[in-house]
Amino acid sequence: MAITKVKGTYDSFDELQKKYQALEEKIRMVCHIFNYDEIKTPIMEYSELFHRTVGETSDLVKKETYDFLDRGDRSVTLRPEGTAGVVRSYIENKMYANNSISKLFYIGPMFRYERPQKGRYRQFHQFGVEAFGSSDPLMDAEVISLAVTIIKAFALKGIKVHLNSLGDEESRENYRRALVEHFSKYRETLCEDCKMRLEKNPLRILDCKVDKEKEAFKNVPNIYDYLSPSSKERFDKVISYLKAMNIDYIIDPMLVRGLDYYTHTIFEIEANIEGFGAQNIMCGGGRYDNLVSDLGGPQTPGMGFAFGLERLLAAVEASGRTLYKKRGIHLFIITLGDNAKAEGMRLLNDMRFGGLITEIDYKNGNLKQQFKASEKYDPQYIAILGEDELKNNTINLKIKATNEQHTIYLDDLYDYIVNDINNRMSNYSCGGSCSGSCDSCGCDGSCEEE
Ligand code: HAM
Repeated sequence: MAITKVKGTYDSFDELQKKYQALEEKIRMVCHIFNYDEIKTPIMEYSELFHRTVGETSDLVKKETYDFLDRGDRSVTLRPEGTAGVVRSYIENKMYANNSISKLFYIGPMFRYERPQKGRYRQFHQFGVEAFGSSDPLMDAEVISLAVTIIKAFALKGIKVHLNSLGDEESRENYRRALVEHFSKYRETLCEDCKMRLEKNPLRILDCKVDKEKEAFKNVPNIYDYLSPSSKERFDKVISYLKAMNIDYIIDPMLVRGLDYYTHTIFEIEANIEGFGAQNIMCGGGRYDNLVSDLGGPQTPGMGFAFGLERLLAAVEASGRTLYKKRGIHLFIITLGDNAKAEGMRLLNDMRFGGLITEIDYKNGNLKQQFKASEKYDPQYIAILGEDELKNNTINLKIKATNEQHTIYLDDLYDYIVNDINNRMSNYSCGGSCSGSCDSCGCDGSCEEE
């Protein structure tokens, strides 16, 4: 029997991979504009990292990590999220040394042993950012605005930004007490997990999908009432900056996030993707001012978020946007005879060196078979090189757009094609500035649609 992919994983190739490429290209562009630098950290980390950061009582660590002992009996985990590894790297590489701001982003695979369904995988991909070194509320607003800019870059509609504050330690302690008092009255009605959460991490009860509709969830204390004056003031500042940037949000006092490291501002971005149910949350993040010090680094505030790329792509597609347009190649070279083949290989290399996407037949076909082979690539030009042409140092060039055919000198082939492309591009409204690649101007590629 053929071996299949592991449950909850998928292969990305062909169109899907091109879509992810386009997605990542735009993400990198936005990060570049916001002046965030890319970081790559290992896919596996020592298990302890996630136990100490994500939290022992979180579902993620309790039920969802891929843990294994390596051949040296060390406990290693496939990263379930990106923040912990980036913080570990930030400390290990002493990025804090000059006391400056570090603004980092990453794109890569994450692993969670969850029940696979639409929008939920066991290997999925996150694009995330982490900004270190500022506890100023304006950093919260910048990070949120970066996430919102991603949404805008893909022109997604029906998006909601949910916002909340967990406050400082004192606020969270007061709120924890209020929650214990409240939920203790309903203890017997709670699910087994929530009974445990009541003892260990009552905030996590608010995240429970099982108990959500129960009586216990009516009149839950509102965290805002338990924020210390300075936490409240801080949160109000975040809100005022978001308002200044025209960012819409919903204050959601029930939002707690599933990871233990958050302090103060937390947020999630909800997309409206039909059939995705609870998997509509495509981005989550917040501030984590104690994480660096908890992991042995100096006291350094941090703030970040992560998008699930699969959900982001689903949202882009649900909004009817095309991420990339199938594009033909520039040139296909047909050769007839052995001598022409060697010259064809020289041309192939030269054309590619000059930036023209060029293909050739790899199956030693006759003329008809080579024309057939060219169809797959949808070339703008087909160049035919036979023994006669070779003798005369010429080549036959078919121009797809006009159906014309010209005999030109071999040495002129490259310039001829480039000039022809440029001439045709200058007829479009973009004047060719999109490199022949935008929908709106009539070019034949996939440049930005705003
Ligand atoms: P998270 O909310 O656990 O946060 O994950 C962020 C996003 O990853 C989710 O909103 C979702 O889009 C996607 N995601 C999570 N699990 C899956 C899955 N099984 N299949 C597909 N997509 C999934 C974090 O991971 C934090 N590290 C975010 C953060 C960064 N907070 C501060 N900095």
